[in-house]
Amino acid sequence: AKAVTVPALQAMRSAGYKISMLTCYDASFASLMDRCGVEVLLIGDSLGMVCAGYDSTLPVTVADVAYHTSSVARGNKNALVLADMPFGSYGTPEQALANAVILMQAGAHMVKIEGGSWLVPTVRFLTERGVPVCAHLGLTPQFVHQLGGYKVQGKTEESAERLKRDALALQEAGATLVVLEAIPTGLGKEVTEMLAIPTIGIGAGPDCSGQVLVMHDMLGVFPGRKARFVKNFMEGQTTIEGAVQAYVAAVRDGSFPAQEHCF
Ligand code: KIV
Ligand code: NA
Repeated sequence: AKAVTVPALQAMRSAGYKISMLTCYDASFASLMDRCGVEVLLIGDSLGMVCAGYDSTLPVTVADVAYHTSSVARGNKNALVLADMPFGSYGTPEQALANAVILMQAGAHMVKIEGGSWLVPTVRFLTERGVPVCAHLGLTPQFVHQLGGYKVQGKTEESAERLKRDALALQEAGATLVVLEAIPTGLGKEVTEMLAIPTIGIGAGPDCSGQVLVMHDMLGVFPGRKARFVKNFMEGQTTIEGAVQAYVAAVRDGSFPAQEHCF
């Protein structure tokens, strides 16, 4: 296998080859997922919920993400390592760069930030300085208190138009990947067709350039309420490796997500 790079992700998008992303927080799972052909390992700030047991992602620190990123990087060979910038760590471009450097030095190849057009100067600042950026639009969990819960976004024409403007502005600023979370299938399709860069959906329909799930969710481990977009890939499998292989295969052949996982 060859190393997954930013240009490689772009080539996959252009070829219509569906990209698999999973969250990953330690070296052993990184090694397993990499072996199964998962293209992107995301050290999500969801680690605060699934690993640490917090009830939101807000308490997660840069040091927390850096620790898990270095663990994943040591277990990984070929996947692209994507680290979340946690709540409050990218309020200004300068603060974002200082914290992104910590994550890149821990082994990340790209960082992810939540939000729309207000991040344009930050995306430009980071990408001009060698930090690839993944945007995250739609349901952005760091905004849970502003959104009033974990709710589907982009359902009104106004919010859908705003999301499309945000996606274009962030691409224009230099973002090379975008996660779309919990939006209607039609909007996921429109954004994906509108952009030149790959979109990775989680509850954003089957038309995105790729998909992502939280590993605990797709292995049926997380004790919380199961979101509509989650599928337990352990069902019908006897090993974790089998479940991860089934996920990668289902993303590649487009059978995941099915309509029951979409909005
Ligand atoms: O933190 C996370 O796990 C994420 C994914 C759900 C996209 O941001
Ligand atoms: Na996240």
